[in-house]
Amino acid sequence: MNLKSHLTHPVFELIRKTADRRQTEAFVVGGFVRDLLLGRPSPDLDCVVKGNGIELCRELCAEIGKRTGETPVLHEFGQFGTCKFEYDGLEMEFVGARKETYKPGSRKPVVEEGTMEEDRMRRDFSINAMAVSLNKASFGELSDPFNGLEDLRNQLVRSHRDPDLSFEEDPLRMLRAIRFASQLFFDIEAGTFAAIMRQKEHIGELSAERVTEELDKIILSPKPSYGFKLLDAAGLLEIIFPELCRLKGVEKRNGKAHKDNFEHTLEVLDHVAYAKGGLWLRWAALLHDIAKPKTKRFEEPRGWTFHGHEFVGAKMVPGIFRRFKLPMDENMQFVKKMVELHLRPIILAEDIVTDSAVRRLLFEAGEDIGSLMTLAKADITSKNREKVQRYRNNFAIVERKLEELEEKDRIRNFQPPVSGNDIMEYFNIPPCEEIGIIKTRIKDAILDGIIENDRGQAWELMIETGKGLGLSCPRS
Ligand code: CTP
Repeated sequence: MNLKSHLTHPVFELIRKTADRRQTEAFVVGGFVRDLLLGRPSPDLDCVVKGNGIELCRELCAEIGKRTGETPVLHEFGQFGTCKFEYDGLEMEFVGARKETYKPGSRKPVVEEGTMEEDRMRRDFSINAMAVSLNKASFGELSDPFNGLEDLRNQLVRSHRDPDLSFEEDPLRMLRAIRFASQLFFDIEAGTFAAIMRQKEHIGELSAERVTEELDKIILSPKPSYGFKLLDAAGLLEIIFPELCRLKGVEKRNGKAHKDNFEHTLEVLDHVAYAKGGLWLRWAALLHDIAKPKTKRFEEPRGWTFHGHEFVGAKMVPGIFRRFKLPMDENMQFVKKMVELHLRPIILAEDIVTDSAVRRLLFEAGEDIGSLMTLAKADITSKNREKVQRYRNNFAIVERKLEELEEKDRIRNFQPPVSGNDIMEYFNIPPCEEIGIIKTRIKDAILDGIIENDRGQAWELMIETGKGLGLSCPRS
């Protein structure tokens, strides 16, 4: 197979010239080739060069500089024999062909110069071990020693060498197998999957950052539940995310059963993924019911309850983020807020939808109201079609009201129309409890629709409330 017609980026021609001039072989390998064959755009381009990749890269960058007037900044990693630079939207990485050997009892590979064949052999899966020649005589020719193309056609992630050894060498590959399967909706070949089950304990040797990078990619895949079910079936989920495993199972008492919260959580996550929710809203979906096992009770006559699971769950978010080395920033705060508020739109939709309840929801969710509504809609996974329809109708009312009220009252970015300073100055008082009381009264009056979000009306209410509290009014 020849892929010449796909190698249209000008850099391929430049690599060809540089490699031919140096009389060395150059290939584009790995993920770029896989994605090219799948028709997925890939911004990362890995090249393998026979001999010294860094020297070729220096020449290539100089050549690019000559042509474009701008020489890319080359980052060299001498000890690994690799270098990187960015050019015209591509992240380029060059490395000399290498082989990796492992001494018995040691995890650290001995990296030595190797042949192109050895370089392909050391890679993780057949679909990642294909290469395309960039030399003139064979420009665009696919080299596929382990039938990666056939595996792509059969939608299979398969280790082309002893998978136990491969996973022992780099346990991350177990997560990569599941991540590729989840991103591409591929199967994992039976022998490869069996090896993951055997080698699962090695996952504990990885840093949290590496695990999280793969987990994020699974979460971002089109149907993330598939990846999570694979993680679970392989026994990896129990090790990396025990809180999720604790959601599994259905308990029945006095003829009353609750739903399987693991299945439900994955369904909600899929719904958010279909709704094109971003990474953090997907994390919120994954964690929205995380405290259900902790809050589960059986109470007659209601049956199973999970009182306060949204608050307990929100409190669990920082600890989980810390463990996964996820950022402890506004994204974590967002996930926490989504977990805490996830029931609010449903509670609202269950009742008569009043303006005041909608205003309060808008006030608490602020800018994140759209995300919260997406999560709440995703959370409806009942098998009862009538119930689902009723929720949908009520959500539509909530959304319509949200728009109307937002236009009228601008609650989303609520700033009190009368500040604490205004109150202190007007009544000539120092900081004290009364200021809080007046501010809350004004806020509640706006949210309950008693006054509009307007300074004049709020000012009048401030005076009235102050008087009621026994404060003296200078101008009355
Ligand atoms: N590779 C490997 N074992 C690993 C990681 C990577 O054998 N643990 C090899 C694979 O051949 C892979 C290539 O290195 O294709 C590049 O790795 P990377 O850029 O991490 O992954 P991609 O396959 O390019 O996929 P993606 O960009 O989606 O992460």
